[in-house]
Amino acid sequence: MPFCLVRADITKFSADAIVNAANSSLLGGGGVDGAIHRAAGPELLAECRLLGGCETGQAKATKGYGLGCKHIIHTVGPVWEDGEQGERELLQSCYRNSLALAESLGCKSIAFPLISAGVYGYPKREAIEVAESEARRFLEDHEMDITLVIFDKDSFEISYERFEGIRQFIDDAYAKIREDKERGRREMMGSAACFNAPAAAAAVLKDEEAKPKKKGLFGQAKKTESAVPDFDACDVAEECAAEDYFSMRDESFSQALLRLIDERGMTDVEAYKRANIDRKLFSKIRSDVHYKPKKQTAVAFAVALKLDIRETEDLLSKAGYALSNSLDFDLIVKYHIVHGIYDIFEINDALFRFDQTLLGQN
Ligand code: AR6
Repeated sequence: MPFCLVRADITKFSADAIVNAANSSLLGGGGVDGAIHRAAGPELLAECRLLGGCETGQAKATKGYGLGCKHIIHTVGPVWEDGEQGERELLQSCYRNSLALAESLGCKSIAFPLISAGVYGYPKREAIEVAESEARRFLEDHEMDITLVIFDKDSFEISYERFEGIRQFIDDAYAKIREDKERGRREMMGSAACFNAPAAAAAVLKDEEAKPKKKGLFGQAKKTESAVPDFDACDVAEECAAEDYFSMRDESFSQALLRLIDERGMTDVEAYKRANIDRKLFSKIRSDVHYKPKKQTAVAFAVALKLDIRETEDLLSKAGYALSNSLDFDLIVKYHIVHGIYDIFEINDALFRFDQTLLGQN
């Protein structure tokens, strides 16, 4: 997936380049820097000594050593003072320079820790926003898998306004399900109370006897003799050759997707970038008319195409999926669509905070 958030220890993560939140000496320290040096081993420090330090906002590369990646990119984030000392621009530079360096080294994937958000005190929510917006900016005209590795749970607290709205939406949906169940139960008990079972059974029996018998889907049931020819859809299906039957099928997910991209006047590149899908997967979908995407991929395209709820359901059904009111993932997606929020980064941010699978390919 071009941009992804994961909860992990970056020293255990697999990518071509792992980014280190270092200090300007590049000679190691605490936090993620300490963990990377421990995992990489003493050869890393030996190579770092040759680099002559690094300015804040800049980036330098070494080999990966025991870390198992091809390159470690060391960048130095700003120390947070009050937000008025150019901290944001410096943090942006860390991401830009690291990504440019990874690109020049031929990396196809890179993993970042949340630079400056530990010892250097950068507020976590703002640090995440900078990371996301720099990844998005880079991906507009580059192909790379960028992962933001979040270590501590509290970096992703869900207590602020937007997430409160989502939580409320989820709670309301579950409350409605409970209410409907309760109403259904009451209605059943009510109707059971005034239900005259013997009379009802007799009525059903009479009704059944009066009906001509229909065949099952494949015509195994016995046909009832009748003066009127018993014509139903099963007779037609029976007469259709298997190929004809299959050619009558609805358009596939892939066909629907390509049609919608055309109808929206979008290019393929726009569509897959907005869907957080990489070029290779898109080509697969394009070239295989019966491609069955994962649900999160299908939803990602619905978001990229800015489909409303009904259109989203329609597209999902082509891949055999639906949006339910009893799954957090589905409700979070619905919340964004209903509120006209079609920014895949924003939706993934919310999904991540609620511990759900992200949109795009996984
Ligand atoms: N994997 C992923 N993220 C981690 C890990 C890990 N193993 N360990 C910590 N983090 P910090 P900074 C997260 O303090 O703020 C060092 O001493 C952590 O939860 O490592 O840029 C350097 O030598 C936080 O969200 O880096 C510098 O002197 C994020 O990584 C100074 O700290 C960054 O926390 C740099 O401070």
